[in-house]
Amino acid sequence: NTGMFTYDPGFTSTASCESGLTYIDGDAGVLLHRGYPIGQLAEQSSFMEVCYLLLNGELPSAKELADFTTTITRHTMVHEQLTAFFRGFRRDAHPMAIMVGVVGALSAFYHDSTDINDPEQRRIASHRLIAKMPTIAAMAYKYSVGQPFVYPRNDLSYTANFLNMTFSVPAEDYKIDPVVVDAMDKIFTLHADHEQNASTSTVRLAGSSGANPFACIAAGIACLWGPAHGGANEAALNMLREIGTVDRIPEYIARAKNKDDPFRLMGFGHRVYKNYDPRATVMQKTAKDVLEKLGVNDPIFDVAKELEQIALNDPYFIEKKLYPNVDFYSGVILSAIGFPTEMFTVLFALARTVGWVAQWNEMISDPAQKIGRPRQLYTGPTQRDYVAVDKR
Ligand code: SDX
Repeated sequence: NTGMFTYDPGFTSTASCESGLTYIDGDAGVLLHRGYPIGQLAEQSSFMEVCYLLLNGELPSAKELADFTTTITRHTMVHEQLTAFFRGFRRDAHPMAIMVGVVGALSAFYHDSTDINDPEQRRIASHRLIAKMPTIAAMAYKYSVGQPFVYPRNDLSYTANFLNMTFSVPAEDYKIDPVVVDAMDKIFTLHADHEQNASTSTVRLAGSSGANPFACIAAGIACLWGPAHGGANEAALNMLREIGTVDRIPEYIARAKNKDDPFRLMGFGHRVYKNYDPRATVMQKTAKDVLEKLGVNDPIFDVAKELEQIALNDPYFIEKKLYPNVDFYSGVILSAIGFPTEMFTVLFALARTVGWVAQWNEMISDPAQKIGRPRQLYTGPTQRDYVAVDKR
C-alpha cells in the first residue's frame, strides 16, 4: 500500500507493500509470524493463539487467549437464513464454488459490520469471519454429501468444533480423537498467513477500494482456488494417486522436466522459497505421526516420500531450486482424517482467513493507505487514426 512498484526483467510488475505480520526468507527457508518461527508455533502454540498473535501483534496472556477464544466461539453460528442459500447449489458443486458464493453473500446478512471506517465494526467483522468460516466450510461439505448440517457447539475447541460439524451425523456422534484435532490444528497454523501471496494481495487490492470485508475475503477465496496456489493441495494428492506406485515416479519426473509438457509436480516449487518450505518440514513429520497413531498405512505417503527424494537429487530440480511446498504432504494427512480432495482447498481458505483478515486490518487501519493501482509496461500500438470500415 506504499505504492512502490518494482519491475523485474520478466516485465512482471511486483507491487510491494509494508507489513509487519509475516517475514519470509525464501533462500534460507525461514517463515516468521510477528517474529516467531513457524516451526515453534506449529509445535508449541495453537491455531487460536496464532490467530490472536497475527491480529494483535503479541502472544496473548492466558486470560487474553481465553477471552479471545470465547469471543470467537460465540460467533460460530451463522444466520439461519444462510442455510437456504446453500440449497441453490447443485449437490455436486465444488465446495470452493459454494465458499466463494456464501462468503461473498455474508455482507447481506451482517450489515452491522461492513463500515470499514469504524474500528469496532472492523473488529466484529474480523471475528465473525474467523469464527464462521469453519461452520460454512463444514456446511459446504455436508451439502455435498447430502447430510444434514450440524450446528456448532460452545463446549468444543475451535478445531474440534469444525471436525464435529463436518463428520458428526444425527445418528452417531463423531468420536473426537485428540490426535486428529492436534494434526488439524497444526495444519491450520501452517496455513494461517504467508506474506503477500496471490490471494492475500487480492484481498488487499479489493480492500483498498473500500469494499466490505466479506466481499474482500470472497475475492481471496476465488484467487486461492487456482491449482498454482491453494488448489495445489487437491492437485498434489490427485497427482500422487495417479502415480500410484513408486515404480511410476520416473515417468512423472520426466514429464515435469519436459518443457513441452504442461505437467508440473504439484506441491513442488514456489515463487519465493528457493529452499525447503519450512511448513513442508512440519507437514511431513505430522503426516508420519498421524498415519502411525491412526494406524493408517497409506501407500501414497511412501510414493510422496520417494518422489521427494528422487526430485531433490535430480539436477533439474536442484538447478531450478524446486522443493516441496506446504501443499505436498498436507493431502496425505487430510485424506487420513477423512476429507475428500475437493475439501482440501476449502481447509486452506478456512485457515488463511485469519491471515487475510489480519493483512486487511493492517492495510485499512493505515490512514495513509490509498486505492491500489498496479501499473503496466505498455506493449500495444502507438497512437493511430480511425479508418472507416469501407476503407479498411
Ligand atoms: C502456494 O505465494 C505463496 O506464498 C503461496 C503459498 C501460500 O502459502 O500462500 O505458499 C501457497 O500457492 C504454494 C505453491 C502451490 N503450487 C504448486 O505446488 C503448483 C506447482 N508449482 C508450480 O506451479 C510453481 O512452482 C509455482 C506456480 C508455485 C511457481 O511457479 P514459477 O513462478 O514459474 O516458479 P519458478 O519461477 O520458481 O520456476 C522456476 C522454474 C521454471 O522453469 P523455467 O521457466 O525457468 O524454465 O522451475 C519450473 C518453472 O517452469 N517449475 C517447475 C515446477 N515449479 C516451477 N517445474 C516442474 N514442476 C514444478 N512444480
